[in-house]
Amino acid sequence: MNLINENNQLILDTVNLKSLAEKYQTPLFIYSYESLKMSFLDYKKELSNIKHLICYAMKSNSNHSLVKELGGLGSGADTVSGGEIFRALKAGIDPKKIVYAGVAKKEEEIDFALNSGILMFNVESVDELEKINERAILLKKKAGIAIRVNPDVDPKTHPYISTGLAKNKFGISIKRALEVYQYASSLSGIEVLGIHMHIGSQLLDVSPYEEAFNKVYDLYLKLEQLGIAIKYINIGGGLGIVYDSKLDKQPRTSDMLENITEKIKKHDLTLILEPGRSIIGNAGICITKVLYHKESGIKKFVIVDAAMNDVGRPSLYGAYHEILPLEEKGNEDIVADIVGGICESTDYFARDRKINQIAQGEYLVIKSVGAYCASMGSNYNSRLRPAEILIKNKEVILIRERETYEDLILREKI
Ligand code: LLP
Repeated sequence: MNLINENNQLILDTVNLKSLAEKYQTPLFIYSYESLKMSFLDYKKELSNIKHLICYAMKSNSNHSLVKELGGLGSGADTVSGGEIFRALKAGIDPKKIVYAGVAKKEEEIDFALNSGILMFNVESVDELEKINERAILLKKKAGIAIRVNPDVDPKTHPYISTGLAKNKFGISIKRALEVYQYASSLSGIEVLGIHMHIGSQLLDVSPYEEAFNKVYDLYLKLEQLGIAIKYINIGGGLGIVYDSKLDKQPRTSDMLENITEKIKKHDLTLILEPGRSIIGNAGICITKVLYHKESGIKKFVIVDAAMNDVGRPSLYGAYHEILPLEEKGNEDIVADIVGGICESTDYFARDRKINQIAQGEYLVIKSVGAYCASMGSNYNSRLRPAEILIKNKEVILIRERETYEDLILREKI
């Protein structure tokens, strides 16, 4: 992200952030089109010599304008609910570029996906396979499917976001996969199209990908021998990003994809990818205003107007996010917890963080919040969800209005 300090003020893609904070109020999410475009095109470049489809993982940030912009760059969508399919279609994503995963697809969601003509379901259990078959026959459709296989590989990431271990609820054990593929091929409402895997998120080491892909590739060769033609291999998302520039090292898409594309190239196969965080994570920041200071005797607190309902990753996963003052004042450093106003002790953004002394009414920038922040936001404590802004070609576009008190009770019986 092109976030620079100019005359001690932070500027993003030529736009002065203080002026945005003052105009749109805080907390405020701001996304950089340039940054998401670069990340998307980086994948495209690596995949240029094979047939491929990038399905942006909507769960990372499903804002209509962001999905539309990505669609405009050629992206499809990885969805996980009827709601995400609806959003993808509304944003103009071609249904033939939509894949649909998730362990708990409901009947009406399956029907919606079938009637929308999506490319395929990523099937997570035999029960689900049978349900999709039943609904497809009833609706006189053929459901394209991939079986999501669980390769039992350790992605070496936070346990809450590991998905490819045998103990996780996701996918069907790769050991049972041959048998399930044979069964799927016998079902009249099903068209077997692919193999899907997704082993976890925020992978900073790419070796687990290769280990998992090799298992999937092996399965592909066995299925070919059995006469089950596979057209797509979907390796999911998961590539990590730098949250802590002192500790994290950005893994390269080329390292992740080099050996995989070499193998894909040898066959009539399309590679599907489902990146979320690596596209949007570092394209977003949140500006928050300092409301109060407080000292408890053993700790200092900087209390801000964002809270865990806006940026929940620190409280959920103990995640680290860099936090900078919006204006460099050259003050002394203090060590403090930076916290929100929600009535929970886990409502924090940083603990014992060294930051420049900052006065009431001044602003802080929480970095790397493009993914899994706004999309996981809530109205807890009846707080209003923030406005969201996109900066595109130096233009400032309001892509979501700040909520109002009336929004809070919109669906309630008054
Ligand atoms: N495909 C599937 C099937 C997934 O479950 C996920 C993420 C992705 C793709 C995209 O993964 P990504 O490229 O974004 O790593 N809330 C957590 C992350 C949860 C990830 C869930 N699945 C966090 O804030 O770290």
